[in-house]
Amino acid sequence: MLRNKQVGFLGAGNMGEALIHGLLHGHLCKPEQIICSDVRPERLKLIREKYGVRGTTHNSEVVKQSDIIILAVKPQIMKPVIEEVSKYFDFNKLVISIAAGVPLDAIESCAGKELKLVRVMPNICVSVREGVSAISAGRHAQKEDLMIAKTIFDSVGKSIFLEENLLDAVTGLSGSGPAYIFLIVDALADAGVKVGLSRDDALLLASQTVLGAAKMLIETREHPGKLKDMVTSPGGTAIAGLHTLEQGGVRTTLINAVEVATQRSKALGEMMKNNLKGT
Ligand SMILES: NC(=O)c1ccc[n+]([C@@H]2O[C@H](COP(=O)([O-])OP(=O)(O)OC[C@H]3O[C@@H](n4cnc5c(N)ncnc54)[C@H](OP(=O)(O)O)[C@@H]3O)[C@@H](O)[C@H]2O)c1
Repeated sequence: MLRNKQVGFLGAGNMGEALIHGLLHGHLCKPEQIICSDVRPERLKLIREKYGVRGTTHNSEVVKQSDIIILAVKPQIMKPVIEEVSKYFDFNKLVISIAAGVPLDAIESCAGKELKLVRVMPNICVSVREGVSAISAGRHAQKEDLMIAKTIFDSVGKSIFLEENLLDAVTGLSGSGPAYIFLIVDALADAGVKVGLSRDDALLLASQTVLGAAKMLIETREHPGKLKDMVTSPGGTAIAGLHTLEQGGVRTTLINAVEVATQRSKALGEMMKNNLKGT
């Protein structure tokens, strides 16, 4: 699907690099099909040396030379970057934005023209090719454009299609989710230390438990409640631990956390919209 396409990245930071790695690792692109830009020449040098792709400090060169352009700069600098390159956008080019909280209409409004646009909300786990991304179509995106976006983001994990109005919820759940899991693993490791394990052993036991539990959920497709029941024997250890978690309100706390993060994403999105529209 990406054969004969040139893929360009505006911004070669964490996300840009993770996607370049995914495309090359999955043999979806050859290095000569990829070009990226960044303000930092040393960053470009590193990416060039590591992946054999082309790099430039000129954003417009990336847009001119690419069929697919991935906007991977921070949301705060989207406005100047889009204004700088928008004259080179046309309907032959697919523009994919991964900027958190930046709505599709704000990008078009900033570009001052209609675009073939897709918005994606990935998470940081794309850096280990286990990310999860939600893909939303802009009004001019065709089915083929969505499939291209899916091919790109499936190379670094899994992806689903959603309406744009659900992307704040995605940000609250899977976008911010790695932070919740890191905190939970940190707490489990503390707990392991409290009951006599070394820090290293406790951290490995906690991390691998999260990985294994996630893998079981994905591979068996069973309801988490059913898997929980499977590992909970009468009068046993797991039910004693679960009781304590319920007493501590872990379920309600997680629901509240996702809800609050979703609301925060909405509020930041409104600010970003005004910023991009220059109001
Ligand atoms: N990281 C995540 O977990 C995550 C999750 C979902 C979505 N996203 C979105 O992904 C996008 C990229 O995030 P990131 O974590 O990869 O950020 P990042 O590591 O800061 O990467 C952005 C890169 O763009 C460079 N840059 C700054 N100004 C530029 C310009 N005018 N032209 C070209 N490049 C420029 C930055 O250089 P300097 O460092 O020198 O500024 C940096 O190397 C953001 O919009 C973010 O909202 C990130």
